[in-house]
Amino acid sequence: MAAAPKPHPLDSRFYLPADEFFPAQAGTALTYDDVTLATLYSEVLPRDTQLSTTLAEGLELSIPILSADMDTVTESRMAIAMALNGGLGLLHYNLTEADQLREVSRVKNHIHGLIQEPIKVTPDQRIGDVLEMVEKKRFDFRTFPVVDAENRLVGLLSGHVVKHRYAARLVAEAMTPRAQVHTIQKKELGSNPIARADKFFTDHPGIHKLLVVDDQDHLRGLFTMSDVERISLERKAQFKPARDAQFRLVCGAAVSATRNAFGELDRERILRHVGALVDRGVDTVAVSTAHGFSKGVGETVKLIRAEFKKLPVIAGNVTSAAGVEFLADAGANVIKVGQGPGSICTTRIVAGVGIPQLTALYVCSRAAAKRGVTLIADGGITKSGDIVKALTLADAVLCGSLLAGCREAPGQTLEIGGKLYKQYRGMGSLAAMQAGSAARYGHEKADATRKVAAEGIEALKEVAGPVDQVLAQLIGGIQSGMGYLGAANLAQLQSKARFIRVSPAGLKEAAPHDVVELKPGH
Ligand code: XMP
Repeated sequence: MAAAPKPHPLDSRFYLPADEFFPAQAGTALTYDDVTLATLYSEVLPRDTQLSTTLAEGLELSIPILSADMDTVTESRMAIAMALNGGLGLLHYNLTEADQLREVSRVKNHIHGLIQEPIKVTPDQRIGDVLEMVEKKRFDFRTFPVVDAENRLVGLLSGHVVKHRYAARLVAEAMTPRAQVHTIQKKELGSNPIARADKFFTDHPGIHKLLVVDDQDHLRGLFTMSDVERISLERKAQFKPARDAQFRLVCGAAVSATRNAFGELDRERILRHVGALVDRGVDTVAVSTAHGFSKGVGETVKLIRAEFKKLPVIAGNVTSAAGVEFLADAGANVIKVGQGPGSICTTRIVAGVGIPQLTALYVCSRAAAKRGVTLIADGGITKSGDIVKALTLADAVLCGSLLAGCREAPGQTLEIGGKLYKQYRGMGSLAAMQAGSAARYGHEKADATRKVAAEGIEALKEVAGPVDQVLAQLIGGIQSGMGYLGAANLAQLQSKARFIRVSPAGLKEAAPHDVVELKPGH
């Protein structure tokens, strides 16, 4: 094999490694658009690059992307979609503890391809009622399990009979009776339910639905052949779903440094809550606050670490080396970096505090390497190129704005002037704090009568399609960046990256210019 060309002294003078570039810029805080990465000799094709990242022992992801623990970004639907794509969702904590636990269970119990709460009908309904429901709810399927009042399976209503000519008939008359319906016991699904369902469909030509029941014949789910076929194809995909040792999807949950009525850390409540999350199978907890280099956050992390020795703990946010060391010494495995870069953040405007993200990441990354902890770059990411730059210094990125427009994000879709939008709000916005997130910003629960300084805004995001598509675009961009740097994996991206500052004219040159744009490129 021919040796790689030697570095050229001219390149080495202009395009500097992080440890030369950032110290040379000391005194100026830089963010993503302030720098660009130099291309390097490459033998790596973008599609062959590996994106896996190990955030902590037992917390390995196939792609280095997390969804933000915000109430307009991550609930179970988002967390499931993130894990299926190889990433991780952090469930927000702007809900009751019981509701957050239920969301964790939804992710951990999710069996890909199994519709866990299928739409059902009852024997005493008329076919006409079923047709009305299909039309009203715009279902694109017409086959329904039939259950009694106790959710026991009594038959299957096939799409062939859900027709106007049979409208006056009862479901009971038209359905396939229980004895002829193909079912499988939930406990027989084993560790690979899709493979089990796939085999069933191969063994039963012409049967396209498999119902899942429990010991008492209660309906517990439904497999359809088309879903199973689609998933079998996806399995050949390059980036595998992120799963735990028991083959369940991974998920994280945010917890706050909760205080009692006397303003002291509510140790008992924090431990009870984390204990319940762990019982449900959570893979990591994130002590998420705006100011992680603080006594309360340090004590919370220590508390959790002492009680749950093996649980990967994420903590933040910080922007200094001392902040990283403080949280690492308290027992955090993963540190979130970012104060004020977020698209909906106003911390820098309101409080005059915060550090542009690339400088913060450089400073934190050098402290993290010494303490053996990993970093998440949190906030301010608007395009895949920012992710490539962030990953030269961090182990993963956390996205709010980029995912908030996806259909899997919580919240309604709004139509304004013919365009579709979803709500996206800062967790430090007044509305979010009133809903419960005030502790994250060091306030008591906000109420209308008390004056608190909001550090975030309420906004809208244009609807962005499903998470699969958004992530596919981002991953494509990351792989392309790695190809330009000849980096086969994220460790090589970190060691090979060479930086240079961009002038304002250079920044203008980087975006489409002097043309009439017909279709946005991203
Ligand atoms: P992006 O840019 O991805 O940022 O939308 C998401 C991150 O922003 C942080 N965040 C806030 N920061 N005020 C702030 O100063 C807020 O109200 C707020 N809400 C979220 C948070 O770190 C998130 O992951």
